[in-house]
Amino acid sequence: MKIINAKSCQEISDIATSIILKQIKKKKNSVLCLPTGKTPLLMYKKLVQLFHDGKISFEKVLCFNLDEYYGLNKENKNSYHYYMRKNFFNFVDAEDENIFILDGMAKNFKKECDDFEKKIKKTNGIDLMILGIGENGHIGFNEPEGSFLSRTRLVNLDISTRRANSKPFKSLRNTPKRALTIGLKTIMEAKQIILLASGNKKKNIVKKAFKDKINKKIPASILQTHKNVTAIIDFKI
Ligand code: GLP
Repeated sequence: MKIINAKSCQEISDIATSIILKQIKKKKNSVLCLPTGKTPLLMYKKLVQLFHDGKISFEKVLCFNLDEYYGLNKENKNSYHYYMRKNFFNFVDAEDENIFILDGMAKNFKKECDDFEKKIKKTNGIDLMILGIGENGHIGFNEPEGSFLSRTRLVNLDISTRRANSKPFKSLRNTPKRALTIGLKTIMEAKQIILLASGNKKKNIVKKAFKDKINKKIPASILQTHKNVTAIIDFKI
């Protein structure tokens, strides 16, 4: 696995953006899997800028998202549907029918997750997976101790994740307890993976994920076995 040391979150975003640009130039109908969180915000800003400058088009790109809170509807400001529209999809030419985000309100969550897997399979696989990392080592919402063979499913969120993500929900009580997430096996099947991590808060966990033995306590550690992973980070490990 490759590590790129950037100087700042801006530089992480610039590098990630150029990898996405290269992928879409190579294949107009690329299949991407996109993350949420604070870390990729500047990347989305930069992609929107590139679109405005006529340097990139998402018209043919298929965009999957990693995860969604269970129980939040698409209009909820804390949902990942809302995040993606507000930060990205509202400003680029991605077609609605090419955007796939898990429905947090799906009553039949099993079917929702199985259908999501089927849609990915139908595309012939994800070309480029872009990941953030939680402070407990989760990727998507694949929490510690989950199976490395997991597929898209409903999961219980770790208390540490709920605490880390509680700010926009105003209290821990209001923070969702469950989420739908793409699985670790699904992530590992992507042809290329980039993981973005910024700030000292992430330093320890990234170090453990990439330098310690692979173990279920740190879900991101499974990435060590992928053929084409690049971590873009703004700290030294
Ligand atoms: C959430 C998401 C993850 C994301 C993580 C880190 O828990 N489910 O996909 O990687 O947050 O977010 P941030 O970039 O805000 O630290």
